[in-house]
Amino acid sequence: MSTAVHFHDQHVDEAGPSFGDDVIAGLGRSPKALSPKYFYDERGSLLFESICRQPEYYLTRTEEGILAAAAEEIASLVGPESLLVELGSGASRKVRLLLETLRPSRYLGVDISRDFLLQSTRRLAADYPWLEVHAAWADFSARLRLPTGVEGRRVVAFFPGSSIGNFTPVEAEAFLARLRRALPPGSGVLIGVDLVKDTSALEAAYNDAAGVTAAFNLNLLERMRRELGVAVEPGNFRHLAYFDAASSRIEMHLVSRCRQTLVLGECRFDFARGETLHTENSCKYSRKGFQALARRAGYRPSAVWSDAEALFSVHYLSSD
Ligand code: AVJ
Repeated sequence: MSTAVHFHDQHVDEAGPSFGDDVIAGLGRSPKALSPKYFYDERGSLLFESICRQPEYYLTRTEEGILAAAAEEIASLVGPESLLVELGSGASRKVRLLLETLRPSRYLGVDISRDFLLQSTRRLAADYPWLEVHAAWADFSARLRLPTGVEGRRVVAFFPGSSIGNFTPVEAEAFLARLRRALPPGSGVLIGVDLVKDTSALEAAYNDAAGVTAAFNLNLLERMRRELGVAVEPGNFRHLAYFDAASSRIEMHLVSRCRQTLVLGECRFDFARGETLHTENSCKYSRKGFQALARRAGYRPSAVWSDAEALFSVHYLSSD
């Protein structure tokens, strides 16, 4: 019993490109694009928490309802004394719906936002004194490795929120296959996946009336200004989010309201009026479509739960 968090620094800066490197690469590309992982600086993480409370953003509350209702069944699939690994743990809020029922012996939160990760896991450790809490500061999209000695009778990777939707289907399959290889035999993956539905409901979720998603998207520009010294006026861009049926995904973009040039060090990036910076894909799946993808990645889909309106799904995939 301990309320201290075991911290694992897996943030290997040298291993991957920095924010600045990726901005230079992404704005130099045509069409311009940047990884959505850069949304989550401290302000972005807070804005995301706020998105999750917006009435149009059905994903969070629907997934939470599904998890709460399925907790007993999940517990019987997983068994006691597991190691629960949460990828992109953020505020570590959803896992609370499972802990009392699942009774894992260890929890490992993995997140790219260091301070947020520490705050959240410390709170979790204080609230669940029987749980051994670990925090790994890591970019799991770049590298996946369980810290040595952090084990359980069964390992369950918890990947809620439909974050898998940020990958294209081809990338998602590769990511899940890589995750499977990083887990010991007999592991499971508990993953939240947003479902395809009518376009108006999908688009409303990414265009909330309070403008929080717009602020979240525009924060990328603020972050470029704060961290990289790019003299960019966020007011010169606007938020755009729409459903592309052909690729079954929400695309988010920042649209340049005028002709402008962003300068980063020696690099100059010209934007035409109306030109966009593609900031996020959020792929939507059918139940069957995602199960097929999981099979291609080497898993056995063993259970799937949904809400009455079929807005969202939670899958349990067995690694063997
Ligand atoms: C965390 C990737 C699942 O795609 O719905 C919310 C992020 N972006 N609003 C999503 C997000 C804009 C979210 N994911």
